[in-house]
Amino acid sequence: MDLLIKNVIMAKGLLSSIIILTLVILPTNSTWWLLGTPAAYQSTLELKPTNYKKHCKDLNYLEERQKEICGWSQNILKTIGKGAMMGIEECQNQFRTRRWNCTTFNTTTVFGGILQINSREKAYIYAISAAGVAYSVTRACSKGEITECSCDKNVRQQNTEGKWEWGGCSEDIVFGESFSKDFVDSKEKALSAEGLMNLHNNDAGRMAISNNMDLICKCHGVSGSCSVKICWRKMAEFAQIGEELTEKFEGATHVRMSMKRNKLKPKIRGQKSPTKQDLVYLEESPDYCKRNLKIGVLGTKGRQCNRTSYGMDGCKLMCCGRGYHTMVREIVRDCECKFIWCCSVKCNKCREVVEEHFCN
Ligand SMILES: *[C@@H]1O[C@H](CO)[C@@H](O)[C@H](O)[C@H]1NC(C)=O
Ligand SMILES: *[C@@H]1O[C@H](CO)[C@@H](O)[C@H](O)[C@H]1NC(C)=O
Ligand SMILES: *[C@@H]1O[C@H](CO)[C@@H](O)[C@H](O)[C@H]1NC(C)=O
Repeated sequence: MDLLIKNVIMAKGLLSSIIILTLVILPTNSTWWLLGTPAAYQSTLELKPTNYKKHCKDLNYLEERQKEICGWSQNILKTIGKGAMMGIEECQNQFRTRRWNCTTFNTTTVFGGILQINSREKAYIYAISAAGVAYSVTRACSKGEITECSCDKNVRQQNTEGKWEWGGCSEDIVFGESFSKDFVDSKEKALSAEGLMNLHNNDAGRMAISNNMDLICKCHGVSGSCSVKICWRKMAEFAQIGEELTEKFEGATHVRMSMKRNKLKPKIRGQKSPTKQDLVYLEESPDYCKRNLKIGVLGTKGRQCNRTSYGMDGCKLMCCGRGYHTMVREIVRDCECKFIWCCSVKCNKCREVVEEHFCN
């Protein structure tokens, strides 16, 4: 990417290079999210005990503190990359039926120009990816994949009122959260409104995990009598975290920086202040209807929509009033399957016509 830019600059004259430079410098803040893209993630899988330290130092898109953390041990980078990837995938899963579908680009900013707007979509991106790192690290701890941590021992001090006993491996979300804070938040400054927004949303993302820990129990005792019940704490499925954060996205609070103290306050006077679990944003979102690559918006032309739905995936909202066209497709699938003794299944092929609708 950088090389390409340099070549373009050299090919064009001085005047255009000034224009290109200003265009590039403003939005191109490459970040650790890159670790979650397939090419970068693949390269972290190939790290060896002999070369990971050098690899960490060479990653010029990481902050100094992030390079330091990366160099702690061999599997750290892989674990962070997996967290970044989980964040991106869950974002795309949650937003698949919306106008903005969590588009990623093959550039160093990963999410593109959308990050220039301090919108609720940006709030979601920050929250889900901070959560992704906390989740991935916590899971790696309980699997013994990273050496800095293990299972949560402190949880065993919590009183169970004799109803069960702590046992097994409780996942150490406290470690995962503080790791994510150390790594993900290292770039943010609490001095600007944008920095405060990002920090708030990162915290909210991580809290969606710690507030949703499951208690898993196993019975022991003669013939299933359950005379001894052993329990441990485990993180919920990451998809549940994603869904929880989508609800926070829907109810996100529009905030502004309060002048007296370095704090965010609801933009509308008298509105309830956001809790630590809520997402916050500073700017309204664009409508995402029309293609505008400067802000990383692909537009909804050609997106599939649902003719009968009144939700965001319905053709009316998805297509922004431009209408839609319908395509008829024949699909062939297995049907009337019979079990044949023993042991196979025989099916017929059925043809079926489906109607699909796409935005104009
Ligand atoms: C998002 O929408 C674009 C079209 O606007 C489409 O090309 C892309 O495949 C979609 N991405 C996902 C992850 O669904
Ligand atoms: C994105 O970049 C990777 C390598 O950097 C390349 O292999 C891939 O083809 C690119 N994809 C697109 C859609 O340009
Ligand atoms: C379209 O929306 C309706 C109503 O919300 C729903 O019942 C149906 O399953 C949806 N169809 C598809 C293909 O998603």
